[in-house]
Amino acid sequence: MSKNWLLTRRGVLCLGLGTLASIGTLAKSKALNNPARDFTVVGEASLKERAAAKGLIYGAPAKYRTLSSDAEFAARFPQECAILAAENDLKWRNIRPSPKRFNFTKGDWMLEFARTHDLLFRGHTLVWYKALPKWFKEKVNSQNAERILVDHIDKVVGRYAGQIHSWHVVNEALHLRDGRSDGLRNSPWLDVLGPDYIELAFRAAREADPKSLLVYNENDLWFDGQLWSTTANGEAKRVAVLKLLERLKSRGTPIDVLGIQGHLRGTYMTHLNPKKLRAFLADVADLDLKIMVTELDVRDHKLPKDINVRDRLVATAYEDFLSVVLDEPAVMAVFTWGLSDRDTWLSRFSPRKDGLAVRPLPLDDQLNRKLAWNAMARAFDNAPMR
Ligand code: G3I
Repeated sequence: MSKNWLLTRRGVLCLGLGTLASIGTLAKSKALNNPARDFTVVGEASLKERAAAKGLIYGAPAKYRTLSSDAEFAARFPQECAILAAENDLKWRNIRPSPKRFNFTKGDWMLEFARTHDLLFRGHTLVWYKALPKWFKEKVNSQNAERILVDHIDKVVGRYAGQIHSWHVVNEALHLRDGRSDGLRNSPWLDVLGPDYIELAFRAAREADPKSLLVYNENDLWFDGQLWSTTANGEAKRVAVLKLLERLKSRGTPIDVLGIQGHLRGTYMTHLNPKKLRAFLADVADLDLKIMVTELDVRDHKLPKDINVRDRLVATAYEDFLSVVLDEPAVMAVFTWGLSDRDTWLSRFSPRKDGLAVRPLPLDDQLNRKLAWNAMARAFDNAPMR
């Protein structure tokens, strides 16, 4: 082993990882089956305060419908979160009722809520293969797509220019099971614009708001192996996203952050490979990119019925994942995909067969802190200072 390998960032990391991985594996096997795992937290500081103490930002998305009608939730949100995102209210389907019309009513209300509660704001999302309006398919074609896309970004990003901490510019552009050599998803955007739609979107977003951090957001990067039939192998997807980022950076694409979504699965946490995930994050950082955990939650629909057991397994997943990810100094923010079990996409998307409510988030449906909250608090408290 050459001396300089040992001294490189990756070399030191790999040596450290060897230890971490063995501890991680040991801890994991113990943690998953260890009812006595300690989730004690010191003090009453909120998640946003504990994150900020280490130079991190913690927050979550919410829906206009929830924030505007649930006063208890609206009061609780700023107590724990430093940043707000619109879960759905700035997606194409929600702001583009027709090709010529934009409806910013809910987006404006969300920005005003953030401003009056001293919250940063994250934009989600400018280009995605889902949540497109019904008219998209019949009206958008290869002749007009570039104008329509650039016009959308100009109008949406331009409207809030200077007020947005970070924009998810392109979301989930990779899908290896579509079989392309570049790993890109056969999305409506690829159909009408080809692979360059990604660079086009980032350049338009930078033009419209030079101040906002520009994020490429991707899912299924956290695990090893293949979890279910529709995903690729996690390692293969990490390789593909690195190649995409390298290609974009080599062309001077204005991209600042990789968003790793982090929709964890409580029954698959043995697929978390600390050593490989940590090395991947180092590779992303070596591209001079920051990293955000953008949609963290833990699917518990197949975990045991007993809430005490289930909450403990969910908390273990949070702590195991975050302890690896927050070790990378380039990681600057953590968002859970929602704050409370009262409003989570998983209630509809992954309900439990026994009919019990799902419990994937840091606060329960009464807005009280759960073990998952403790796990996140401990991860922030134990994270290295940025
Ligand atoms: O509000 C309507 C309601 O009036 C109607 O009765 C109901 C049934 O049709 O639909 C409700 O709207 C749903 C909306 O969520 C609000 O709950 C939409 O149908 C549904 O498609 C939408 O799902 C959202 C999904 O993205 C698609 O946009 C989820 O809330 C949201 O959590 C999810 O978030 C995505 C991220 O944007 C990208 N990463 C993956 C993540 C999870 O899929």
